Amino acid sequence: MNITYFGHSCFGVEINGKHLLFDPFISPNELAKGIDVNSVKADYILISHGHEDHIADAVSIAKRTKAKVICAWEINVWLTKQGVENIHPMNTGGKVKFDFGNIKCVVAVHSSGLPDGTYGGNPMGFVVESSEGSFYYAGDTALTYDMKLIGDYRSIDFAFLPIGDNFTMGVDNAIIACDFINCEDIIGMHYDTFGFIKIDKEEAVAKFRGAGNSLTLMNIGETIKK
Ligand code: NI
Ligand code: MN
Repeated sequence: MNITYFGHSCFGVEINGKHLLFDPFISPNELAKGIDVNSVKADYILISHGHEDHIADAVSIAKRTKAKVICAWEINVWLTKQGVENIHPMNTGGKVKFDFGNIKCVVAVHSSGLPDGTYGGNPMGFVVESSEGSFYYAGDTALTYDMKLIGDYRSIDFAFLPIGDNFTMGVDNAIIACDFINCEDIIGMHYDTFGFIKIDKEEAVAKFRGAGNSLTLMNIGETIKK
């Protein structure tokens, strides 16, 4: 798997030759000015919830790439009204087999209004299972006991967790989440983009290490292999 960071909570993950793009928020992100949004590849676009900082570039990238958008039913209705045609609506608890692997939608404790105020349904996280490995993309969420369902019944190799606090869980709760999901290998997201979620990155990495976990904070534009 190749993982590319596009800033905030936006990652590209290449699995079995397919490009998955999570929560596209690139063009409004001051920290991601070096990314050309028109060059971002996508065969699938996964949207965890309707907030602007997760969906800003979804319509333009979906129309350019014809990627299949995976999102909550209500976000599907909203995207359809904006001319997005290739959508697979899901909801919490649902699992679907795609050509790259399986997607299971899991609980996220957050909210999900769309940018124009439209109701966006449930916020979600995604568990991705494939022959190249499995991971959890948490979306925006608080720490929740529901994460134990991932740790107890699935085996994941790594996880994308929000660590910026204020709107989601912060570093200390994300370290507890590592125990719940039974995973030590974490890629941080949803930090530093805005004033409310600025963190001390060195301290965050040290806290994870002190708890026996690993926190990777990728540079925007960087690609790593998993
Ligand atoms: Ni949000
Ligand atoms: Mn957010």
